[in-house]
Amino acid sequence: MRNRKRETRNAQLTIISGTPGTGKTSAARLLGKLIGARVIHLREFVREKKLSSGYDRKTDSELVDLGKLKRALMREIARPGTQHRKPGTGNGPLVIVEGHLACEFALPAGRVFILRCRPGELKKRLSARKYAKAKLEANLLAEMLDYCVQKAGLNYPDAEVCEIETAGKGAAQTAGRLAALAAGKGKCDSPDYQKELKEFLKLR
Ligand SMILES: Nc1ncnc2c1ncn2[C@@H]1O[C@H](COP(=O)(O)OP(=O)(O)OP(=O)(O)O)[C@@H](O)[C@H]1O
Ligand SMILES: [Mg+2]
Repeated sequence: MRNRKRETRNAQLTIISGTPGTGKTSAARLLGKLIGARVIHLREFVREKKLSSGYDRKTDSELVDLGKLKRALMREIARPGTQHRKPGTGNGPLVIVEGHLACEFALPAGRVFILRCRPGELKKRLSARKYAKAKLEANLLAEMLDYCVQKAGLNYPDAEVCEIETAGKGAAQTAGRLAALAAGKGKCDSPDYQKELKEFLKLR
């Protein structure tokens, strides 16, 4: 028996997380439209609620207090009006929280989707964003080490954690798979990037 207080599992909340560039924002936006759920994009949410505490030049990323972010999200999700579904849109999740930070802390979610992207393709997607070499490599390494999957397993022990490979698939196709899975249809993936990880480490 855990002594840590468990969050109540909430089938109405779904998380979409994963390494930057795996397609979370594109897929979540489409999924929200498909199933009539509200989508909270963490990047926008942090900006709107002024939850950024600066910029870390070393990692080239925004600094966010995860405790504050979690508390603000809990308030947002509980807000009256959030729990209303558009008529005729089924019984999937009502709220989707999307962002790479979402695997770093616990929310009362019933399902966690971790979007994955084979490193060869992820490198192309992140290079197109003109990421600096160190940031590009840190993100590729995180993907090859299943960082977000491991974090989600620890932070969401009661939720179903489901990996979805997005390489070679369009955002619409990924969103369609997520919608089916949210309705209890289809299977998750089990990507394995060990081969790419060994290659990457050999080159260093
Ligand atoms: N399933 C997909 N297949 C191919 N390309 C995709 C797919 N989904 C998104 N993309 C492309 O990959 C890039 C990253 O997509 P997106 O911004 O949605 O990623 P993200 O996971 O939200 O990244 P971040 O964590 O930085 O916000 C975009 O250029 C997008 O057009
Ligand atoms: Mg995004």
